[in-house]
Amino acid sequence: MIKSLRGRLLIGLTGIIVLTGAIGGTLAYKWAYNEAIEMQDSVLTQIGTFATNASTRQSQPVGGVDAESEVVVLELGPTPRGSADERRLWTLRDGLHNEVLQGRPSRVLLRTRSDGSRFAVAQGDEIRSEIAGDMAVRTLLPIAALVPCLMLVTAFVIGRSFRPMFRLAEELDARKVEDLSVLSVAGAPSELHPFLGSINALLERIRAIMDQQQRFVADAAHELRTPIAALSLQTENLDPLDVPPAARDRLEVLKSGMRRTRHLLDQLLALARQDLASSEVKETVHLDQIAKRVVAELLAEASERNVDLGFTMVEPVSVSADPVAMVSVVRNLVENAVRYTPDGGRVDVGVYRESGRAVLQIEDTGPGVAPQDIERIVEPFYRGRRPTGDGSGLGLSIVKRVIDRYGGSIEFENLTDADQTGLRVVVRLPALD
Ligand SMILES: Nc1ncnc2c1ncn2[C@@H]1O[C@H](COP(=O)(O)OP(=O)(O)OP(=O)(O)O)[C@@H](O)[C@H]1O
Ligand SMILES: [Mg+2]
Repeated sequence: MIKSLRGRLLIGLTGIIVLTGAIGGTLAYKWAYNEAIEMQDSVLTQIGTFATNASTRQSQPVGGVDAESEVVVLELGPTPRGSADERRLWTLRDGLHNEVLQGRPSRVLLRTRSDGSRFAVAQGDEIRSEIAGDMAVRTLLPIAALVPCLMLVTAFVIGRSFRPMFRLAEELDARKVEDLSVLSVAGAPSELHPFLGSINALLERIRAIMDQQQRFVADAAHELRTPIAALSLQTENLDPLDVPPAARDRLEVLKSGMRRTRHLLDQLLALARQDLASSEVKETVHLDQIAKRVVAELLAEASERNVDLGFTMVEPVSVSADPVAMVSVVRNLVENAVRYTPDGGRVDVGVYRESGRAVLQIEDTGPGVAPQDIERIVEPFYRGRRPTGDGSGLGLSIVKRVIDRYGGSIEFENLTDADQTGLRVVVRLPALD
């Protein structure tokens, strides 16, 4: 059983065309053949009429009608004479007969002239069949030419009729994961409308569920921030107190745990907000200024660990985006570079314009990312196979979502210069003039 509707239609219609062609062809051949035989009888009759008035004395082929049709006129005389065949013919009545002449089946027309002399007009059955066959075959030519043409046209029409379906599938495949907008019914064939309606309803439901979930995450993160902030304050309040050294160690662990939890909540909230940001905020954002600000903010942390954080190049370039989101992009990337670069390393930031795009490039002298992890580090909570240091694993997910939302791209490339490893991250966004 063929699964494809297109295949079934094609085979079914091709079968019908071939069958119609075969039946039509057979009937046309038979009909034309019989017509040709009858036509040859009337030719014999015409020659008979002509010969009635002529006085041919010898048996000879009749020229002028059709030299190849091998029609002969036999003079039989007023009384039976000549060969056995001629004597036998003489005894026949006037008219058309099927006879065997010189061992060959033939069609014979007998006639008697007014003077009593008789003659026969004869033609071999073999040549008659040949002529009729030739003529009948010629009637088949148009049918034979039409069948393949019809098959081609059918294949073409079927192909075209199914195109909207394939176009729809392509459209769905080419969509971004987060694109849950409804499919347009306009222009689609009416048979697809119920199908499209169902898909659209499904998309709506998925969107509602996702919205609900994102809102829940955002609300939960937001709600948790207050109690966590209160707890942090309480632990900080313990600082000035005189506590035993063992308890002080525990207190430090508690404080760093609090910091991590707060960071996780902040990142979670930032990610959920990116997902929820449906109406795009579009403001002119000076990327160079944001980069300068972020680098300045992280300088202390970098110099604490002896990491040389600085710029290779800063060109004034702006993009149209949400300023808060853009700060979060630059911050997460520079923070990663500083965090994953060992003490004494270097982080170079560059902001410039390149063929209509604003480029943010960050290079570090850290360990880079294992090739099998590069694809996955933008997934939420993924921190690589050998996670180092603190982190929620959400930073790059936030970055990726913001960049996707503003039609940009991000690339990660491991640097392997001689003895130096590192990671180069390049972000490209449509630049404003
Ligand atoms: N510059 C870098 N050098 C080496 N590895 C990196 C670099 N940037 C990111 N990674 C790897 O990618 C992982 C994911 O990074 P991401 O920023 O998403 O999360 P995180 O830094 O672990 O946590 P968060 O940013 O939420 O605090 C990191 O855990 C780290 O293993
Ligand atoms: Mg990070």
